[in-house]
Amino acid sequence: MFAATHIEAASKDEFYAELAQQACALLHGERDRVANAANFAALVWHALPAINWCGFYFFDGRELVVGPFQGKPACVRIALGKGVCGTAAQTRQTQLVDDVNAFAGHIACDGASRSELVVPLIDARGVLLGVWDVDSPELARFDAADRRGMERLCAAFVASLEPAAAAA
Ligand code: SME
Repeated sequence: MFAATHIEAASKDEFYAELAQQACALLHGERDRVANAANFAALVWHALPAINWCGFYFFDGRELVVGPFQGKPACVRIALGKGVCGTAAQTRQTQLVDDVNAFAGHIACDGASRSELVVPLIDARGVLLGVWDVDSPELARFDAADRRGMERLCAAFVASLEPAAAAA
C-alpha cells in the first residue's frame, strides 16, 4: 500500500527515509523557495499512492496563500485558525485528520478529499513559513508513520532554504 513505484521499502519509515534522501538531493544547492517547493511537491506527488492533492500554503504575514502544488486548483487564501491548514499554522502542530467531514471548519477545495495531513513549516528562528498539506480520497489514509515521515520531509524542505544549506 505504501510502496511507491520507484522506491522499494520494507516499511513506511524506510520509505520516508529514502524519500527524504531524494528530497535532500533534489533541493541541495538551491535556496529559492518557489523552486524548491515546486520540486518537493512534484517529488511527493509521484511517490505517494492514494493522494489527490499535495502542496504548500505560505504565510504572508497575515494569512496563508497557496504556493506550488500538485492536484486540482485549490482555494487561494486561508485565514489562520481556519480549516485544517489554518489550524496547523495557528497551533504550530501537525494535523492528522482521518475524516475531513468530521473536522469542524474543514475547507473543501477538492470534494474528493476524505483524509488530510498538514505539517506546519517553522524555520530555525521559529518563524512560521506556512504549511505543507497532503489530501487523500481514502478515509484514514495517513497514520503515525506518515506523520513522522512527512515531518521529516518537511524538515528537509525548510533546511534547504537556510543559508547554510546552499553553502554546504
Ligand atoms: N482542506 C484544507 C484546505 C486546503 S485544500 O485541501 C487544498 C483545509 O481545510 O485547510
